[in-house]
Amino acid sequence: MNNRQLFLQHVAQTSDAPLALEIVKAQGMYMWDADGKQYLDLIAGISVCNIGHCHPAVVEAIREQAGTYMHLLVYGEFVQSPQVAYAKYLTEHLPANLNSVYFTNSGTEAVEGAMKLAKRYTGRTEIIAFKNSYHGSTQGSLSIMGDENWRNAYRPLLPDVQHLTHNAMEAIGQITHRTACVIAETVQAEAGVLAPQREWLHALRKKCTETGTLLILDEIQCGLGRNGSLWAFEQYDIVPDILLLGKALGGGMPMGAFIANREVMWSLTHQPVLGHITTFGGHPVACAAGLAGMQTLLAENLIAGVAAKEQLFLQLLQHPKIKAVRSKGLMLAVELEDFPSNKKVIDYCIANGVITDWFLFAPQCLRIVPPLIITEEEIRTACKIILAGLDQLV
Ligand SMILES: Cc1ncc(COP(=O)(O)O)c(C=O)c1O
Repeated sequence: MNNRQLFLQHVAQTSDAPLALEIVKAQGMYMWDADGKQYLDLIAGISVCNIGHCHPAVVEAIREQAGTYMHLLVYGEFVQSPQVAYAKYLTEHLPANLNSVYFTNSGTEAVEGAMKLAKRYTGRTEIIAFKNSYHGSTQGSLSIMGDENWRNAYRPLLPDVQHLTHNAMEAIGQITHRTACVIAETVQAEAGVLAPQREWLHALRKKCTETGTLLILDEIQCGLGRNGSLWAFEQYDIVPDILLLGKALGGGMPMGAFIANREVMWSLTHQPVLGHITTFGGHPVACAAGLAGMQTLLAENLIAGVAAKEQLFLQLLQHPKIKAVRSKGLMLAVELEDFPSNKKVIDYCIANGVITDWFLFAPQCLRIVPPLIITEEEIRTACKIILAGLDQLV
C-alpha cells in the first residue's frame, strides 16, 4: 500500500472525503506534495503558520531546546527556562491585568481550563456563549459551541450553558450575578468572519464588570497579528479577564494558553490543590518554538503589513459570483451562493496549486487566512486562480 492508502487505512478519519494530499515539505508560503507539485498556502494550517512554514528562527529554537531538555515533569513543578521566558514575553506584550499564563497543549484545553477557572473563582456555574462560535472539540468546548447540529450528537453535555446571539444588545441583559463567565471569540471565525460592533463589546465588558462575571475572549484563531493588531481586542479598546490563545502561539508546535490575573489564577492552587493538571502543557520545545515565533512576528514587523494586504485582497476579489467578502485583517471569508459552488472553487484552486478551504459554520464561504508573510505578488497570483475558479461557475 502507498502512504495515501495507509493513511486511509490506519489513521483515524473524521470525514469521508479528506483532502489526502501528501505533503512532503513546507517552507514559508509554500508546500510541496510527493509528486513535487507546489502549493501556495492561503490558510496557514487554519491560522497557525502566521510567520510562514518552518521559519529558520523557529526551527533553530526547536533544535536547540530538543538537544537541551524535553519533557522533565508535569506542568507547574520545575522552573523551565523556555516556559518562563515565553510567559514573561507574552505578559510584557499584554495589558497589566493579564499577567499569569497557564500553558496548555491545544486551544480547546485552554478553553476547558478557563471555564474551570471562572467557575472556581466566581463560585458560579452559568456559562454564556454565543451562537456560531467555535471553541474546540472536547466536551466542555463542545458544550459551548454555537451550533446545535454538532452539539446534539454528544449529549448530555455541560449543564447551565446559554447560547445567545453574538453582537445583539438583547444578549447583554441575560448576564446576571449567576453568570460565571461569558466566552466569546473577539472576531467569530468559523461563522465566516463576523466582527462585532465596538458598542456591543463595550456593553458586554461593562455588564460583566457590573455583575462580577469574567469576560473570556477567545483569540485562538484571531490573535497574534491575524486581525491586524497583536491582539484583536486592542482594536476595540477593551480588555478581557481571561484571554485564550492557541494555534499561532506555538510557532507551528502544538500549544494553547489561558491568561488571567495572578489573583484569579491563584484559585487553581487550593481546595483542591492542583486545580488544573497537564502532563505536557508548556512543553519546553513548544515554548521555545512559540517564543521564537512571536519574536519573529514582531521583529519582522509583519502586523504592520496586514491592513494593506487585506485591502489588496478586497480590491482583487471582484466577481459576479461573489455575494460578499467579510474581512478582519488577513482573515477573509468570500461568500458564494452555496457549499457546492464553494467546493467547486476550492477544488479548482487546489488543482491549480492554491490551498484554501471553507468555514465550519459558513460552508458557502471560501477561507482566506494566509501566513502574514504573503507578498503582493502572491496575493495577485492567488486571486487570479480564485477568480478563474469562480469563472467555472458561470
Ligand atoms: C476560535 C477557536 N477556539 C478554539 C479552537 C480549538 O483549538 P484546538 O483545535 O487547538 O483545540 C479553535 C480551533 O479551530 C478556534 O478556531
